[in-house]
Amino acid sequence: MYTLGIESSCDETSAAVVDRGLRVRSNVVFSQVARHERYGGVVPELASRCHVEVMEEVVRQAMEDARAEWADIGRIAFTRGPGLASSLLAGIHTATALSLSLDRPRAAVHHLVGHVYSLFLDRGRLGEDLLPMMVLLVSGGHTQILMMDRESRLTRMGGTLDDAAGEALDKGAKLMGLGYPGGPRIEKTAELHDGPSIRVTGRRSPLKASARTGGLDPEFCFSFSGLKTALLYHVRDHPEDAAPDRLPALCAGFQEDVFDGLTGPLRRALQTSSVRSLGCVGGVLCNQRLRLLLEQAADEAGVNLFLTDPAYCTDNAAMIAAAAACGACQEIPPGATEWLDAKPSWLMDHERATGGRAA
Ligand code: KG4
Ligand code: ZN
Repeated sequence: MYTLGIESSCDETSAAVVDRGLRVRSNVVFSQVARHERYGGVVPELASRCHVEVMEEVVRQAMEDARAEWADIGRIAFTRGPGLASSLLAGIHTATALSLSLDRPRAAVHHLVGHVYSLFLDRGRLGEDLLPMMVLLVSGGHTQILMMDRESRLTRMGGTLDDAAGEALDKGAKLMGLGYPGGPRIEKTAELHDGPSIRVTGRRSPLKASARTGGLDPEFCFSFSGLKTALLYHVRDHPEDAAPDRLPALCAGFQEDVFDGLTGPLRRALQTSSVRSLGCVGGVLCNQRLRLLLEQAADEAGVNLFLTDPAYCTDNAAMIAAAAACGACQEIPPGATEWLDAKPSWLMDHERATGGRAA
């Protein structure tokens, strides 16, 4: 039996078919970038309309690519949150309709838990000997250090006090006139550069324990908003650095600043915990420079490294199906006609315990 996954939390409409061994039979992702580009970011109303428009075709294509029959589908997994309310509803409705017509259970998956399970796609679950594993989650909306123990429970060790790393890259790209989506554009521009880069990092004061850390050790927390402000002032005071000939050096430097801000707390967390593995997930993991830096950090700490395949780093339905196939979901039995609402601000279990701060 296969799991059919559906993801529609933001600006990607995706459906995927994943088998019990977590092999991806199909993973169709319709990116809405072209529809939002001219507005410089995602427009929620446009996103939800687009999900409704393309969802049926995306699901049909995923079934066709997997050469699957409806009878092969054992459960329908979908993202219930967090994300844009009206976008989430498109996936929730589709999953509900399919579950009722096929008489199969639905599985509601937390989007960030989905990112974590992207690690196991086409690879299978890690053996007990590779756990506990520290997981660095770096997406557009979240930057967290999580711990996965032998029971696959996730607890949080660190988070960001302000912007997520992906958000910092996206905002930085806007400031440098590169538009949306920022992360990949900064990487592409930085690749044109060879030589000393332009760094904007101001003096960083050490983070202090505060209400914002939600009880987490500030040593393992991230902060990127100061970096964005430093870039803003740099571009204002040195507009020549944002000119076409110097922009690659500025992109390379800013990207490195963001990644320094990521790997610092991660290195400290690795030093103080006795994990066997480091897993890294989320859209920013598409970045080749970051993948290299993470290899170095894992090497230094002497832990096994698992990086999500770039094909499954940004939002996709295969990771949602994988989480459900591993039981990391809320299962709704077949025939249940219960109406499910979207959970735009759904907290992971451990976040609830600390008031949801340090995302
Ligand atoms: O995980 P994701 O698809 O969406 C969220 O759940 O937020 O991550 C999107 C983020 C965006 O901030 C985007 O700029 C970043 O991932 N990203 C990258 C790259 N590709 C996507 N950042 C750096 N380098 C890339 N190649
Ligand atoms: Zn995501």
